Amino acid sequence: MINIAVLGYGTIGSGVVEVIDTNGESIAERAGDEINVKYVLDLRDFPGSPVENKIVHDYDVILNDPDIKVVVEVMGGVEPAHTFVKNALLKGKSVATSNKALVAKHGAELLQVAKDNGANFLFEASVGGGIPIIRPLYSSFTADKILEITGILNGTTNYMLTKMANQGLEFDDVLKQAQDLGYAEKDPTADVGGFDACRKIAILTSLMCGKQVDFEDIYTEGITDISAVDFKYAKVINKSIKLFATTRQLETGSPQGSGIVSMVSPVLIGPEHPLFAVNDVFNAVFVKGNVLGDTMLYGSGAGKLPTASAVVSDVIDLIKHFKSNIKMGWSPDKLTLLDRKMIEHGYFVRVKGTIGERIEAVEKAFGKVIFIEAPGVEGEFAFITSNMPETDYDKRIADIPDVIKMIRIEEHGR
Ligand code: HSE
Repeated sequence: MINIAVLGYGTIGSGVVEVIDTNGESIAERAGDEINVKYVLDLRDFPGSPVENKIVHDYDVILNDPDIKVVVEVMGGVEPAHTFVKNALLKGKSVATSNKALVAKHGAELLQVAKDNGANFLFEASVGGGIPIIRPLYSSFTADKILEITGILNGTTNYMLTKMANQGLEFDDVLKQAQDLGYAEKDPTADVGGFDACRKIAILTSLMCGKQVDFEDIYTEGITDISAVDFKYAKVINKSIKLFATTRQLETGSPQGSGIVSMVSPVLIGPEHPLFAVNDVFNAVFVKGNVLGDTMLYGSGAGKLPTASAVVSDVIDLIKHFKSNIKMGWSPDKLTLLDRKMIEHGYFVRVKGTIGERIEAVEKAFGKVIFIEAPGVEGEFAFITSNMPETDYDKRIADIPDVIKMIRIEEHGR
């Protein structure tokens, strides 16, 4: 029997206990041994719950118990999670976590500590909830050079954007719905500001490049500025607005130079894009390899049981690798990202006034554009530019007064 400890009996912690209970037999078969949750660390007591007699309030009980071979960290936040995880690894205990904040900040360090102490550190659930994406990155896409990872990595904002698109609702109304349904994290800023997606793409980019990508270096724009009017225009041009977290390898020889660019921002996409049909709380990650071509993984990016499923799959893998190191190829060397303004996009721009009044100035700045008017939208119009780097767009738009908003357009396969 393998004894494990679960740190945190919140939504995911209770999910982990439930998954082990529900699928105990098949899990034991795959792990090669039965898994027993010996301790659950939480500040609270849970009388009447299945873990009533397993609750401990002192982490040292877990740390000093040689019977505990695997620690599951599902508390969230950087501290004390970081200290707890590091101390477990220093004692040779392997760790599985769902904590993206911890992994984005300390992933490379904790992988090294694990290796130095004969343990492993896994974090499948930290990105894309139940979608397997971390393991494929270090064990399946290994024959390829990865050229692009683009994800819809935040369920809350995808739910909100889907509702805005389908029901014509305003941002504040859909945010309230998302909060009532329990999708938004405690502080909705992390979701709607794009910071949750930013940490997730930082983790994926670190694995893609094998170096440390600091989330603070990734340009991040959330969806707080997206309105019902934007969706009226989107409908006219048969596009959808999604929050994309994108990393691209710009290859040597490309006019933009060579290196990695990464950013999080709302984008307009058309039905030809593989991520167009990813709606509601679902997440998906599109990966392009230089020999493999396009692949996409889709599923539940959040929620108790999907996330717990990924955590428990890590526990099984940890048990299978007690005597060997799981190599992820994520070194602590920092990667300097290229200026994301080198990426080319088309730009959807809303401006005040009428097309008749402003056509000359717009065409003088941008050359040929596509003009759009949306039914029921007065006193403004929009236009779509050709593709250009954002540095170029910035120079040209400086000549156009009364710009209401710009949204980047992502074309698949460009
Ligand atoms: N708040 C996150 C989301 C939870 O909405 O996707 C999973 O990280």
